[in-house]
Amino acid sequence: MKNNMKNSMNQRFIRIAVLWFAAGIMLGIYMGISHQHIDKQVHVHGLLLGWVSCALFALVHTAWPRLQTLRSAAVHFWLHNLGLVMLLTGLVIERREATMAGPFLGIGSITLAVATVIFTWNVWRVTTMQNNDDLTMKEVSGKLHHAHFDLS
Ligand code: HEM
Ligand code: HEM
Repeated sequence: MKNNMKNSMNQRFIRIAVLWFAAGIMLGIYMGISHQHIDKQVHVHGLLLGWVSCALFALVHTAWPRLQTLRSAAVHFWLHNLGLVMLLTGLVIERREATMAGPFLGIGSITLAVATVIFTWNVWRVTTMQNNDDLTMKEVSGKLHHAHFDLS
């Protein structure tokens, strides 16, 4: 994390979300034009886990700014997105040459599940804290500035 909110988690999540959105829309348009729906599951999961979920993660990190001070928020970000890339890769392969798809689908799904457990744990931790809303965005920014991730 750097000296201001540039690399804050809500910003990272909304940036990756719009990339997933653009990619999902492009694929949807291609599917519509070509009448080739072989990758429908890629379209569905790329949009719902990429665009919809990541945009929600961005909003949740904004609504509960303490989340942004957690080191594990970054772990969640990476596991979710890498897991999703693996899941989509598995779905692409599955529809063409089934033999190699298993490991991608398996590892991708488990990675997404681990990411989900971390996110769930982070939200519970932060929302259980007393005086949750006493931490302003400015204070979060200050914490990031000092690369200090403690919740004290
Ligand atoms: C320009 C925008 C879009 C286009 C052209 C498009 C196109 C398509 C096409 C061609 C299908 C396949 C339908 C089928 O095989 O039965 C589909 C399915 C689907 N799309 Fe999109 N899509 C777009 C945007 C979105 C967005 C933004 C989302 C979600 C946030 C979304 C979610 C879904 C879902 C859930 C399905 C599966 C529905 C089902 O099978 O009943 N799509 N889309
Ligand atoms: C690790 C996570 C996930 C895995 C492994 C997974 C896997 C699957 C599988 C195997 C199918 C059936 C595909 C088929 O009929 O060929 C499916 C369908 C579907 N999933 Fe997921 N899914 C996951 C997460 C999600 C999430 C989080 C959402 C929504 C936010 C979602 C929305 C859907 C929808 C809408 C369909 C139906 C698409 C259609 O119309 O065919 N999935 N998923």
